[in-house]
Amino acid sequence: MKAAAVFPTEHRFDLVDHPEPHLSSASEVKMRMLDVGICGTDKEIVNFQYGTPPPGSPYLIIGHESLGEVVETGKDVTKLKPGDLAVATVRRPCDVAGCAACRAGRPDFCYTMQYTERGILKRHGYMTEWTVEDAAYVNPVPRSLRDVAVLVEPLTIAEKAVEQLWEVQRRLPWALAVKPGEPPGAGRNALVLGAGPVGLLGAMKLVMEGFDTTVYSRTGRVGDVAGLVHGIGAKFVHAETTGVAALAAQIGNIDVVYEAVGASSLAFEAIRYLGVNGVFIFTGVPGRKGPVPVDTDQLMRDHVLKNQIVFGTVNASADHFRRAIADIGAFAQRWPRALSGIISHRIPLEQAAAALSGRVEGIKNVIAIGGPAE
Ligand code: BGC
Repeated sequence: MKAAAVFPTEHRFDLVDHPEPHLSSASEVKMRMLDVGICGTDKEIVNFQYGTPPPGSPYLIIGHESLGEVVETGKDVTKLKPGDLAVATVRRPCDVAGCAACRAGRPDFCYTMQYTERGILKRHGYMTEWTVEDAAYVNPVPRSLRDVAVLVEPLTIAEKAVEQLWEVQRRLPWALAVKPGEPPGAGRNALVLGAGPVGLLGAMKLVMEGFDTTVYSRTGRVGDVAGLVHGIGAKFVHAETTGVAALAAQIGNIDVVYEAVGASSLAFEAIRYLGVNGVFIFTGVPGRKGPVPVDTDQLMRDHVLKNQIVFGTVNASADHFRRAIADIGAFAQRWPRALSGIISHRIPLEQAAAALSGRVEGIKNVIAIGGPAE
């Protein structure tokens, strides 16, 4: 079968002919891949900055944002049947007996950092025609979400982040005292840094949670990002015309910052305007561009005097995938145009190299493997 693969030692990216996988245990399912999203991590992998092939393989099949159709199930599988659409999780546990996180089924919090990830670290990914996976890692998706379910994986980042946000804000006794009919973020302000897929899906999640949400980005021009943001009831502020100080003055007390750019200079400029009792959430992974000066006294003073919390979050659990699937369904009901507007282009597998090189503009580009969307 055809697969998009990176050869890190040869510095080469190519379509390869890879053996088609078959079920090898009663708990596995086989899927025909339909859509595989491209994200910043994939671009880093094809630039040989990240990514590790499975032991003994010269190449790594990339792709971790998946949507497939189940074609075959092992005899012990009850939650999926042939014909079901499904999204697989990315991370697999380490095998260190003492890793409490992995042993508790939460490799997204792996202590040893010896986890593996499909399409990223030591396991082949989904940018291919067929895949086999244990059903424990595969989540059913309603057929009605065929065209947008490839956005589930990037939304899981926001699901895990927002869950932790509320865990943290439990410290404020009144914060969760929601008025009947009102979501928990009502009356509070959220700032999203970045209008890529992680930022836009994060903004949708924050709007659903009731936050008065502002998206701040340099890329207003790709498609109509500003229009898309307005369409979900959030504000869009363009970084080319408004500086961070003016942005902060417009917003008022910033209760949450959801960082989704992976640019430390912007993040540490924005963190200076985090509000009283505010939470700053890092989701982006910056490249190494050298040190950025920060006023550490001001940061430390604010963290203490304003009771601020800063946390980083990566990957997501099976539960976050289930919630993301439900929320993609809710977004599709509430904002059908904005949601499908996140997907800019569907590109055949044969053109994966061009799509990954960044030559194809867009918010989220998707490799369409299993034929056209419905
Ligand atoms: C993926 C995560 C993964 C992380 C680090 C991200 O692009 O969404 O699932 O854990 O990269 O490899």
